[in-house]
Amino acid sequence: MVRTRTEEEIELLRLNGDLVSRTLAEVGRHVAPGVTTKELDRVAADYIRANGAVPNFLGYDGYPHSICTSVNDVVVHGFPSDYALKEGDIVSVDLGTLLKGYNGDSAYTFPVGEVDSETRRLLDVTKECLYRGISMAVVGNRVGDIGHAVQELAEANGFGVVRELEGHGIGRDMHEDPGVPNYGKAGHGLKLKAGLCICIEPMITAGSRGVYVARNGWAVHTSDHRKAAHYELTVVVRQGKAEQLSTFDYIEKDNSINK
Ligand code: MF3
Ligand code: CO
Repeated sequence: MVRTRTEEEIELLRLNGDLVSRTLAEVGRHVAPGVTTKELDRVAADYIRANGAVPNFLGYDGYPHSICTSVNDVVVHGFPSDYALKEGDIVSVDLGTLLKGYNGDSAYTFPVGEVDSETRRLLDVTKECLYRGISMAVVGNRVGDIGHAVQELAEANGFGVVRELEGHGIGRDMHEDPGVPNYGKAGHGLKLKAGLCICIEPMITAGSRGVYVARNGWAVHTSDHRKAAHYELTVVVRQGKAEQLSTFDYIEKDNSINK
């Protein structure tokens, strides 16, 4: 069931969106060669709890960690581990909160030290795909307009769009209707109404778009083992222009974060 939110509900989603945004920046301050992804998990969980919220990924469908840390060829749902990040890696940090009965969910892909120019382009294009998608999240458009915009930019740059996973509605549950695919036909799909709250999250591959799930049942890898990037923001559909409920501003305004 697809539902729109009242301004009171949107305010609670905005509180969550602000907390996930600040948590992503706090994690970003710790991303560096030699740091393990398990350390990033602890930084995020401590920060979320210190702000009176709960990491909503923990225990979700049995997920065993507080955040997802997806390195290089891992697209999403990577487990934090003893793996130490190294110069040239990229790590997608995906995290969420439960605060006052509502959810937050956002992701950012951080470069570790200096990355090669093709990886740099993958990060830049994937983030731009997200903003293109957000620009379509306005009253009167359809869900397919979002996916179409993401897909068009990704493929024009020679990258692949992962089809097996998609964005989603968000509210009292982290994952609600509608699904928000990163590919599609303009003018097709559910009509977007004011107050619909969704997470848009392009997952873009440097090479072919094929993926498989690792034997731990979670980590999604590219089939060709080339890198993938993933950025996610929460938005509310409005007339004329979507409103972002989460933001990368805390990351981008902090000169100590490598981005
Ligand atoms: N945050 C992911 C998404 O963007 C879902 C994470 S699944 C979990 O939809 F199990 F790790 F929570
Ligand atoms: Co999500």
